[in-house]
Amino acid sequence: MGNDPIPTPSIEDLQDDPMTDETTSIFRRRELLRPQHVPQKDRIVGRDREIETVETLLKPAAFGNPPESGFLFGKTGTGKSLVAKHVTGRARGIAQMQGTTLTAAYVDCDQYNTETRAARKMAFEVRNVIDPDRYIPKEGVGTSRYYDALWGGDGLLHKSDSLIVILDEIDKLGDDTDEILSKLSRSEEAGKTGCYISVIAISNKTDYSDAPDERVASSFQDDPIIFPPYDANQLQAILERRIDAFRDGVLEDGVIELTAALAARDHGDARRALDILRSAGKLAEKDDRKRVTEEHVREADEYSDLNRSVQIIKNGTPHSRYALYALAYLTKTRSTDSFSTGELYDVYCIVAEIATGESLTHQRILDLMKKWTLPEITESRHTGGGKSEGSYRIHRLLHDPDIVMSACVNSSETQRDVLNKLSESVS
Ligand SMILES: Nc1ncnc2c1ncn2[C@@H]1O[C@H](COP(=O)(O)OP(=O)(O)OP(=O)(O)O)[C@@H](O)[C@H]1O
Ligand SMILES: [Mg+2]
Repeated sequence: MGNDPIPTPSIEDLQDDPMTDETTSIFRRRELLRPQHVPQKDRIVGRDREIETVETLLKPAAFGNPPESGFLFGKTGTGKSLVAKHVTGRARGIAQMQGTTLTAAYVDCDQYNTETRAARKMAFEVRNVIDPDRYIPKEGVGTSRYYDALWGGDGLLHKSDSLIVILDEIDKLGDDTDEILSKLSRSEEAGKTGCYISVIAISNKTDYSDAPDERVASSFQDDPIIFPPYDANQLQAILERRIDAFRDGVLEDGVIELTAALAARDHGDARRALDILRSAGKLAEKDDRKRVTEEHVREADEYSDLNRSVQIIKNGTPHSRYALYALAYLTKTRSTDSFSTGELYDVYCIVAEIATGESLTHQRILDLMKKWTLPEITESRHTGGGKSEGSYRIHRLLHDPDIVMSACVNSSETQRDVLNKLSESVS
Protein backbone atom coordinates (compact mmCIF):
# COMPACT_ATOMS: atom_id res chain seq x y z
CA MET A 1 0.00 0.00 0.00
CA GLY A 2 2.74 2.41 1.09
CA ASN A 3 4.36 2.47 -2.35
CA ASP A 4 1.21 3.16 -4.36
CA PRO A 5 2.35 5.65 -7.01
CA ILE A 6 -1.11 7.21 -7.04
CA PRO A 7 -1.90 8.64 -3.61
CA THR A 8 -5.53 8.91 -2.52
CA PRO A 9 -6.20 12.06 -0.46
CA SER A 10 -7.88 11.69 2.91
CA ILE A 11 -11.63 12.31 3.26
CA GLU A 12 -10.97 15.61 5.02
CA ASP A 13 -8.76 16.80 2.19
CA LEU A 14 -11.51 15.99 -0.28
CA GLN A 15 -14.18 18.03 1.53
CA ASP A 16 -13.81 21.12 -0.62
CA ASP A 17 -12.71 19.39 -3.82
CA PRO A 18 -14.79 20.74 -6.76
CA MET A 19 -14.70 17.26 -8.29
CA THR A 20 -17.01 16.01 -5.52
CA ASP A 21 -19.85 18.01 -7.02
CA GLU A 22 -21.30 15.51 -9.46
CA THR A 23 -24.21 17.78 -10.35
CA THR A 24 -21.96 20.12 -12.33
CA SER A 25 -21.98 17.70 -15.24
CA ILE A 26 -24.72 18.14 -17.80
CA PHE A 27 -24.70 14.38 -18.27
CA ARG A 28 -26.65 12.08 -16.03
CA ARG A 29 -25.89 8.74 -17.72
CA ARG A 30 -23.22 9.47 -20.28
CA GLU A 31 -22.71 5.74 -20.94
CA LEU A 32 -26.04 5.63 -22.80
CA LEU A 33 -24.36 7.52 -25.63
CA ARG A 34 -21.27 5.35 -25.92
CA PRO A 35 -21.12 3.46 -29.21
CA GLN A 36 -20.51 0.13 -27.45
CA HIS A 37 -23.59 0.47 -25.28
CA VAL A 38 -26.20 -2.19 -26.08
CA PRO A 39 -29.54 -0.59 -25.27
CA GLN A 40 -32.53 -2.48 -23.92
CA LYS A 41 -35.40 -3.41 -26.14
CA ASP A 42 -37.54 -0.37 -25.33
CA ARG A 43 -34.79 1.92 -26.62
CA ILE A 44 -34.46 0.15 -29.98
CA VAL A 45 -36.37 1.81 -32.79
CA GLY A 46 -37.56 0.51 -36.15
CA ARG A 47 -35.76 -2.83 -36.24
CA ASP A 48 -38.69 -5.12 -35.39
CA ARG A 49 -38.49 -7.04 -38.62
CA GLU A 50 -34.72 -7.57 -38.43
CA ILE A 51 -34.94 -8.58 -34.76
CA GLU A 52 -37.68 -11.07 -35.54
CA THR A 53 -35.70 -12.60 -38.40
CA VAL A 54 -32.64 -13.08 -36.21
CA GLU A 55 -34.86 -14.46 -33.45
CA THR A 56 -36.13 -17.10 -35.84
CA LEU A 57 -32.55 -18.15 -36.56
CA LEU A 58 -31.43 -18.36 -32.94
CA LYS A 59 -34.54 -19.32 -31.02
CA PRO A 60 -34.15 -23.10 -31.47
CA ALA A 61 -30.84 -22.95 -29.58
CA ALA A 62 -32.65 -21.61 -26.53
CA PHE A 63 -34.61 -24.87 -26.47
CA GLY A 64 -31.74 -27.22 -27.16
CA ASN A 65 -32.45 -27.53 -30.89
CA PRO A 66 -30.17 -26.64 -33.82
CA PRO A 67 -30.12 -22.89 -34.59
CA GLU A 68 -29.53 -21.46 -38.08
CA SER A 69 -26.79 -19.20 -39.36
CA GLY A 70 -27.32 -15.84 -41.03
CA PHE A 71 -25.62 -12.93 -42.71
CA LEU A 72 -26.50 -9.38 -41.66
CA PHE A 73 -25.67 -6.72 -44.17
CA GLY A 74 -26.14 -2.97 -44.36
CA LYS A 75 -24.45 0.38 -44.22
CA THR A 76 -22.63 1.61 -41.18
CA GLY A 77 -24.69 2.61 -38.14
CA THR A 78 -27.83 0.73 -39.16
CA GLY A 79 -28.02 -1.43 -36.03
CA LYS A 80 -26.47 -4.71 -37.22
CA SER A 81 -24.09 -5.23 -34.29
CA LEU A 82 -26.79 -4.05 -31.92
CA VAL A 83 -29.44 -6.49 -33.20
CA ALA A 84 -27.00 -9.42 -33.26
CA LYS A 85 -25.91 -8.82 -29.65
CA HIS A 86 -29.40 -8.03 -28.44
CA VAL A 87 -31.02 -11.18 -29.82
CA THR A 88 -28.09 -13.43 -28.86
CA GLY A 89 -28.20 -12.11 -25.31
CA ARG A 90 -31.91 -12.80 -25.02
CA ALA A 91 -31.56 -16.29 -26.50
CA ARG A 92 -28.85 -17.05 -23.97
CA GLY A 93 -31.07 -15.84 -21.13
CA ILE A 94 -33.97 -17.99 -22.30
CA ALA A 95 -31.65 -21.00 -22.66
CA GLN A 96 -30.67 -20.53 -19.02
CA MET A 97 -34.33 -20.55 -18.04
CA GLN A 98 -34.80 -23.71 -20.08
CA GLY A 99 -31.82 -25.42 -18.55
CA THR A 100 -29.85 -25.78 -21.80
CA THR A 101 -26.37 -24.38 -22.31
CA LEU A 102 -26.03 -21.81 -25.02
CA THR A 103 -22.55 -20.31 -25.36
CA ALA A 104 -22.03 -17.06 -27.25
CA ALA A 105 -18.78 -15.73 -28.68
CA TYR A 106 -18.44 -12.23 -30.11
CA VAL A 107 -15.48 -11.67 -32.44
CA ASP A 108 -14.78 -8.23 -33.85
CA CYS A 109 -12.85 -9.18 -36.99
CA ASP A 110 -11.64 -5.60 -37.41
CA GLN A 111 -9.50 -6.28 -34.37
CA TYR A 112 -8.98 -10.04 -34.86
CA ASN A 113 -8.34 -9.87 -38.56
CA THR A 114 -6.73 -13.19 -39.45
CA GLU A 115 -8.00 -16.74 -39.13
CA THR A 116 -5.60 -17.44 -36.25
CA ARG A 117 -6.54 -14.30 -34.35
CA ALA A 118 -10.26 -14.88 -34.81
CA ALA A 119 -9.99 -18.57 -33.85
CA ARG A 120 -7.97 -17.66 -30.76
CA LYS A 121 -10.50 -15.05 -29.73
CA MET A 122 -13.31 -17.57 -30.22
CA ALA A 123 -11.51 -20.18 -28.13
CA PHE A 124 -10.84 -17.71 -25.31
CA GLU A 125 -14.40 -16.40 -25.26
CA VAL A 126 -15.76 -19.94 -25.03
CA ARG A 127 -13.16 -20.96 -22.48
CA ASN A 128 -14.04 -18.02 -20.23
CA VAL A 129 -17.65 -19.17 -20.08
CA ILE A 130 -17.34 -22.94 -20.03
CA ASP A 131 -14.11 -23.68 -18.21
CA PRO A 132 -12.20 -20.56 -17.07
CA ASP A 133 -9.39 -22.64 -15.59
CA ARG A 134 -8.59 -24.44 -18.82
CA TYR A 135 -5.17 -23.48 -20.21
CA ILE A 136 -5.00 -22.33 -23.83
CA PRO A 137 -1.71 -20.87 -25.07
CA LYS A 138 -1.89 -17.23 -26.15
CA GLU A 139 0.88 -17.47 -28.73
CA GLY A 140 3.35 -19.79 -30.33
CA VAL A 141 0.76 -22.28 -31.57
CA GLY A 142 -1.05 -22.69 -34.88
CA THR A 143 -4.68 -22.08 -35.68
CA SER A 144 -5.56 -25.76 -35.38
CA ARG A 145 -4.65 -25.68 -31.70
CA TYR A 146 -7.47 -23.21 -31.10
CA TYR A 147 -9.97 -25.23 -33.11
CA ASP A 148 -8.84 -28.23 -31.16
CA ALA A 149 -9.55 -26.44 -27.89
CA LEU A 150 -13.09 -25.89 -29.16
CA TRP A 151 -14.08 -29.17 -30.76
CA GLY A 152 -11.12 -31.51 -30.44
CA GLY A 153 -11.19 -34.71 -28.37
CA ASP A 154 -11.39 -32.92 -25.05
CA GLY A 155 -12.81 -29.73 -26.60
CA LEU A 156 -14.75 -27.18 -24.60
CA LEU A 157 -17.83 -27.50 -26.77
CA HIS A 158 -18.47 -31.03 -25.54
CA LYS A 159 -19.93 -29.21 -22.55
CA SER A 160 -22.30 -26.95 -24.46
CA ASP A 161 -25.55 -27.64 -26.31
CA SER A 162 -24.99 -24.85 -28.78
CA LEU A 163 -22.60 -22.08 -29.75
CA ILE A 164 -23.52 -18.81 -31.39
CA VAL A 165 -20.55 -17.07 -32.97
CA ILE A 166 -20.98 -13.46 -34.03
CA LEU A 167 -18.32 -12.64 -36.62
CA ASP A 168 -18.67 -8.87 -36.79
CA GLU A 169 -17.08 -6.99 -39.71
CA ILE A 170 -16.30 -10.36 -41.27
CA ASP A 171 -15.03 -8.68 -44.45
CA LYS A 172 -11.93 -7.69 -42.47
CA LEU A 173 -10.84 -11.34 -42.52
CA GLY A 174 -10.18 -10.97 -46.25
CA ASP A 175 -8.91 -14.20 -47.75
CA ASP A 176 -9.32 -16.01 -44.43
CA THR A 177 -13.10 -15.63 -44.50
CA ASP A 178 -13.87 -18.84 -46.41
CA GLU A 179 -11.49 -20.82 -44.27
CA ILE A 180 -13.03 -19.90 -40.95
CA LEU A 181 -16.60 -20.24 -42.19
CA SER A 182 -15.97 -23.68 -43.60
CA LYS A 183 -14.19 -24.80 -40.41
CA LEU A 184 -17.18 -23.71 -38.36
CA SER A 185 -19.69 -25.47 -40.57
CA ARG A 186 -17.64 -28.63 -40.99
CA SER A 187 -17.01 -29.05 -37.30
CA GLU A 188 -20.72 -29.21 -36.79
CA GLU A 189 -21.42 -31.45 -39.75
CA ALA A 190 -18.83 -33.88 -38.46
CA GLY A 191 -20.84 -33.94 -35.22
CA LYS A 192 -17.60 -33.93 -33.33
CA THR A 193 -18.96 -32.50 -30.12
CA GLY A 194 -22.72 -32.71 -30.39
CA CYS A 195 -22.77 -28.94 -29.99
CA TYR A 196 -24.83 -27.06 -32.57
CA ILE A 197 -23.07 -24.07 -34.11
CA SER A 198 -24.68 -20.97 -35.53
CA VAL A 199 -22.68 -18.23 -37.22
CA ILE A 200 -24.02 -14.70 -37.38
CA ALA A 201 -21.79 -12.93 -39.86
CA ILE A 202 -22.01 -9.15 -40.20
CA SER A 203 -20.65 -6.86 -42.90
CA ASN A 204 -21.02 -3.29 -44.05
CA LYS A 205 -18.64 -3.78 -46.93
CA THR A 206 -20.31 -2.16 -49.86
CA ASP A 207 -17.28 -1.24 -51.90
CA TYR A 208 -19.32 1.87 -52.65
CA SER A 209 -22.04 -0.17 -54.28
CA ASP A 210 -25.02 -1.61 -52.49
CA ALA A 211 -24.41 -5.29 -53.12
CA PRO A 212 -23.34 -7.57 -50.28
CA ASP A 213 -19.99 -9.26 -50.48
CA GLU A 214 -20.77 -12.20 -52.77
CA ARG A 215 -18.17 -14.43 -51.24
CA VAL A 216 -19.58 -14.14 -47.75
CA ALA A 217 -23.20 -14.16 -48.90
CA SER A 218 -22.75 -17.40 -50.83
CA SER A 219 -21.62 -19.21 -47.68
CA PHE A 220 -25.09 -18.82 -46.22
CA GLN A 221 -28.17 -20.69 -47.21
CA ASP A 222 -30.60 -17.81 -46.91
CA ASP A 223 -30.42 -14.37 -48.44
CA PRO A 224 -28.66 -11.73 -46.36
CA ILE A 225 -30.78 -9.88 -43.84
CA ILE A 226 -30.58 -6.34 -45.13
CA PHE A 227 -30.47 -3.42 -42.69
CA PRO A 228 -31.74 -0.28 -44.42
CA PRO A 229 -30.55 3.17 -43.29
CA TYR A 230 -32.83 5.10 -40.93
CA ASP A 231 -34.85 8.13 -41.94
CA ALA A 232 -34.68 11.38 -39.96
CA ASN A 233 -37.79 10.50 -37.96
CA GLN A 234 -36.35 7.19 -36.84
CA LEU A 235 -33.06 8.84 -35.89
CA GLN A 236 -35.01 11.39 -33.90
CA ALA A 237 -36.87 8.61 -32.08
CA ILE A 238 -33.56 6.82 -31.37
CA LEU A 239 -32.12 10.00 -29.84
CA GLU A 240 -35.26 10.77 -27.86
CA ARG A 241 -35.01 7.38 -26.19
CA ARG A 242 -31.55 8.23 -24.91
CA ILE A 243 -32.15 11.75 -23.60
CA ASP A 244 -31.90 10.48 -20.03
CA ALA A 245 -28.17 10.48 -20.79
CA PHE A 246 -28.51 14.20 -19.96
CA ARG A 247 -29.91 15.96 -16.94
CA ASP A 248 -33.41 17.37 -17.32
CA GLY A 249 -33.68 20.56 -19.32
CA VAL A 250 -30.10 20.47 -20.58
CA LEU A 251 -30.97 20.05 -24.26
CA GLU A 252 -32.32 23.21 -25.84
CA ASP A 253 -35.37 22.93 -28.08
CA GLY A 254 -34.47 21.83 -31.57
CA VAL A 255 -31.22 20.08 -30.61
CA ILE A 256 -32.57 16.55 -31.12
CA GLU A 257 -34.27 17.47 -34.41
CA LEU A 258 -31.14 19.13 -35.77
CA THR A 259 -28.93 16.22 -34.73
CA ALA A 260 -31.27 13.76 -36.44
CA ALA A 261 -31.42 15.88 -39.59
CA LEU A 262 -27.64 16.17 -39.81
CA ALA A 263 -27.14 12.43 -39.25
CA ALA A 264 -29.72 11.62 -41.93
CA ARG A 265 -28.03 13.79 -44.56
CA ASP A 266 -25.69 11.19 -45.98
CA HIS A 267 -27.36 7.90 -45.10
CA GLY A 268 -29.35 7.52 -41.87
CA ASP A 269 -26.59 6.43 -39.52
CA ALA A 270 -27.54 6.01 -35.85
CA ARG A 271 -23.93 5.87 -34.67
CA ARG A 272 -23.33 9.23 -36.24
CA ALA A 273 -26.46 10.67 -34.61
CA LEU A 274 -25.36 9.47 -31.16
CA ASP A 275 -21.81 10.62 -31.83
CA ILE A 276 -22.92 14.13 -32.69
CA LEU A 277 -25.14 14.37 -29.63
CA ARG A 278 -22.41 13.10 -27.31
CA SER A 279 -19.79 15.49 -28.76
CA ALA A 280 -22.26 18.38 -28.61
CA GLY A 281 -22.66 17.63 -24.90
CA LYS A 282 -18.93 17.55 -24.41
CA LEU A 283 -18.50 20.85 -26.25
CA ALA A 284 -21.19 22.44 -24.08
CA GLU A 285 -19.36 21.26 -20.98
CA LYS A 286 -16.09 22.61 -22.24
CA ASP A 287 -17.78 25.95 -22.83
CA ASP A 288 -18.88 25.86 -19.21
CA ARG A 289 -22.43 26.05 -20.39
CA LYS A 290 -25.35 24.40 -18.65
CA ARG A 291 -27.22 23.80 -21.88
CA VAL A 292 -26.54 22.15 -25.21
CA THR A 293 -27.38 24.49 -28.10
CA GLU A 294 -27.86 24.02 -31.84
CA GLU A 295 -24.51 25.76 -32.20
CA HIS A 296 -22.82 22.93 -30.27
CA VAL A 297 -24.53 20.41 -32.50
CA ARG A 298 -23.24 22.07 -35.66
CA GLU A 299 -19.74 22.21 -34.30
CA ALA A 300 -19.89 18.56 -33.24
CA ASP A 301 -21.11 17.61 -36.70
CA GLU A 302 -18.00 19.04 -38.29
CA TYR A 303 -15.82 16.84 -36.12
CA SER A 304 -17.89 13.81 -36.90
CA ASP A 305 -17.62 14.48 -40.63
CA LEU A 306 -13.92 14.03 -40.27
CA ASN A 307 -14.40 10.83 -38.30
CA ARG A 308 -16.68 9.52 -41.00
CA SER A 309 -14.03 10.05 -43.67
CA VAL A 310 -11.44 8.25 -41.56
CA GLN A 311 -13.85 5.34 -41.25
CA ILE A 312 -14.42 5.21 -44.99
CA ILE A 313 -10.68 5.19 -45.63
CA LYS A 314 -10.08 2.41 -43.10
CA ASN A 315 -12.77 0.34 -44.83
CA GLY A 316 -11.03 0.69 -48.21
CA THR A 317 -9.22 -2.23 -49.83
CA PRO A 318 -5.49 -2.40 -49.00
CA HIS A 319 -4.13 -1.22 -52.35
CA SER A 320 -6.65 1.58 -52.68
CA ARG A 321 -5.42 2.78 -49.28
CA TYR A 322 -1.78 2.60 -50.34
CA ALA A 323 -2.55 4.65 -53.43
CA LEU A 324 -4.39 7.19 -51.31
CA TYR A 325 -1.44 7.23 -48.92
CA ALA A 326 0.79 8.13 -51.85
CA LEU A 327 -1.44 11.07 -52.71
CA ALA A 328 -1.47 12.24 -49.09
CA TYR A 329 2.30 11.93 -48.88
CA LEU A 330 2.81 14.02 -52.00
CA THR A 331 0.26 16.59 -50.79
CA LYS A 332 2.17 16.90 -47.54
CA THR A 333 5.67 17.08 -48.96
CA ARG A 334 5.25 19.06 -52.19
CA SER A 335 4.24 22.62 -52.80
CA THR A 336 1.46 21.72 -55.27
CA ASP A 337 -1.77 19.98 -54.33
CA SER A 338 -2.77 18.06 -57.48
CA PHE A 339 -0.91 15.04 -58.82
CA SER A 340 -1.10 12.83 -61.88
CA THR A 341 -1.65 9.10 -61.54
CA GLY A 342 1.92 8.61 -62.78
CA GLU A 343 3.36 10.78 -60.02
CA LEU A 344 1.52 9.00 -57.29
CA TYR A 345 2.06 5.58 -58.83
CA ASP A 346 5.79 5.67 -58.08
CA VAL A 347 5.17 6.50 -54.45
CA TYR A 348 2.36 3.94 -54.27
CA CYS A 349 4.71 1.15 -55.40
CA ILE A 350 7.08 1.86 -52.53
CA VAL A 351 4.27 1.84 -49.97
CA ALA A 352 2.66 -1.30 -51.38
CA GLU A 353 5.97 -3.17 -51.52
CA ILE A 354 6.66 -2.48 -47.88
CA ALA A 355 3.15 -3.33 -46.74
CA THR A 356 2.50 -6.45 -48.84
CA GLY A 357 5.55 -7.22 -50.97
CA GLU A 358 3.70 -6.59 -54.23
CA SER A 359 2.15 -3.78 -56.23
CA LEU A 360 -0.65 -3.51 -58.76
CA THR A 361 -0.48 -2.09 -62.29
CA HIS A 362 -0.75 1.58 -63.16
CA GLN A 363 -4.19 0.99 -64.70
CA ARG A 364 -5.53 -0.75 -61.58
CA ILE A 365 -4.32 2.12 -59.41
CA LEU A 366 -6.06 4.61 -61.66
CA ASP A 367 -9.29 2.61 -61.24
CA LEU A 368 -8.87 2.40 -57.47
CA MET A 369 -8.14 6.11 -57.17
CA LYS A 370 -11.35 6.96 -59.01
CA LYS A 371 -13.32 5.25 -56.25
CA TRP A 372 -12.19 7.77 -53.64
CA THR A 373 -14.02 10.57 -55.42
CA LEU A 374 -17.53 9.29 -54.69
CA PRO A 375 -17.29 9.47 -50.88
CA GLU A 376 -15.48 12.80 -51.39
CA ILE A 377 -12.12 11.75 -50.03
CA THR A 378 -10.50 13.04 -53.22
CA GLU A 379 -11.40 15.03 -56.28
CA SER A 380 -10.14 14.19 -59.74
CA ARG A 381 -10.34 15.63 -63.22
CA HIS A 382 -8.87 15.34 -66.69
CA THR A 383 -6.26 17.82 -67.66
CA GLY A 384 -3.29 18.25 -69.98
CA GLY A 385 -2.69 19.24 -73.55
CA GLY A 386 -4.89 18.88 -76.57
CA LYS A 387 -5.84 15.60 -78.19
CA SER A 388 -2.44 15.10 -79.74
CA GLU A 389 -0.61 15.23 -76.41
CA GLY A 390 -3.23 13.12 -74.67
CA SER A 391 -5.00 14.18 -71.54
CA TYR A 392 -4.44 12.67 -68.13
CA ARG A 393 -6.13 12.54 -64.78
CA ILE A 394 -5.02 14.51 -61.77
CA HIS A 395 -6.04 13.86 -58.17
CA ARG A 396 -6.45 16.21 -55.27
CA LEU A 397 -6.89 15.26 -51.61
CA LEU A 398 -9.84 16.85 -49.81
CA HIS A 399 -8.68 16.16 -46.25
CA ASP A 400 -5.75 16.75 -43.96
CA PRO A 401 -2.87 14.59 -45.29
CA ASP A 402 -1.62 13.56 -41.84
CA ILE A 403 -5.00 12.24 -40.82
CA VAL A 404 -5.41 10.45 -44.15
CA MET A 405 -1.95 8.86 -43.95
CA SER A 406 -2.55 7.39 -40.54
CA ALA A 407 -5.97 6.10 -41.62
CA CYS A 408 -4.45 4.44 -44.72
CA VAL A 409 -1.80 2.31 -43.05
CA ASN A 410 -2.81 0.04 -40.20
CA SER A 411 0.08 -0.31 -37.84
CA SER A 412 2.37 2.43 -36.63
CA GLU A 413 5.27 0.12 -37.41
CA THR A 414 4.40 -0.08 -41.11
CA GLN A 415 3.74 3.64 -41.00
CA ARG A 416 7.28 4.27 -39.76
CA ASP A 417 8.90 1.88 -42.26
CA VAL A 418 7.03 3.50 -45.10
CA LEU A 419 8.01 7.01 -44.09
CA ASN A 420 11.66 6.05 -43.69
CA LYS A 421 11.76 4.41 -47.08
CA LEU A 422 9.93 7.28 -48.75
CA SER A 423 12.24 9.92 -47.36
CA GLU A 424 15.20 7.92 -48.70
CA SER A 425 13.87 7.26 -52.16
CA VAL A 426 11.51 10.06 -53.18
CA SER A 427 13.31 13.26 -53.83
N1 LIG B 1 -32.62 0.90 -34.12
C1 LIG B 1 -31.84 1.45 -33.18
N2 LIG B 1 -32.36 1.89 -32.03
C2 LIG B 1 -31.56 2.43 -31.10
N3 LIG B 1 -30.24 2.58 -31.22
C3 LIG B 1 -29.65 2.16 -32.36
C4 LIG B 1 -30.42 1.56 -33.39
N4 LIG B 1 -29.60 1.22 -34.39
C5 LIG B 1 -28.37 1.58 -34.02
N5 LIG B 1 -28.38 2.14 -32.79
C6 LIG B 1 -27.21 2.65 -32.08
O1 LIG B 1 -26.34 3.23 -33.02
C7 LIG B 1 -24.99 2.80 -32.83
C8 LIG B 1 -24.52 2.05 -34.05
O2 LIG B 1 -25.25 0.85 -34.20
P1 LIG B 1 -24.51 -0.51 -34.61
O3 LIG B 1 -23.19 -0.55 -33.92
O4 LIG B 1 -25.43 -1.64 -34.36
O5 LIG B 1 -24.32 -0.26 -36.15
P2 LIG B 1 -23.75 -1.26 -37.26
O6 LIG B 1 -24.84 -1.49 -38.24
O7 LIG B 1 -23.15 -2.44 -36.59
O8 LIG B 1 -22.64 -0.34 -37.94
P3 LIG B 1 -21.18 -0.74 -38.50
O9 LIG B 1 -21.42 -1.42 -39.81
O10 LIG B 1 -20.50 0.55 -38.68
O11 LIG B 1 -20.54 -1.63 -37.48
C9 LIG B 1 -25.00 1.95 -31.59
O12 LIG B 1 -24.60 2.76 -30.52
C10 LIG B 1 -26.43 1.52 -31.43
O13 LIG B 1 -26.77 1.37 -30.07
MG1 LIG C 1 -21.16 -2.97 -36.24
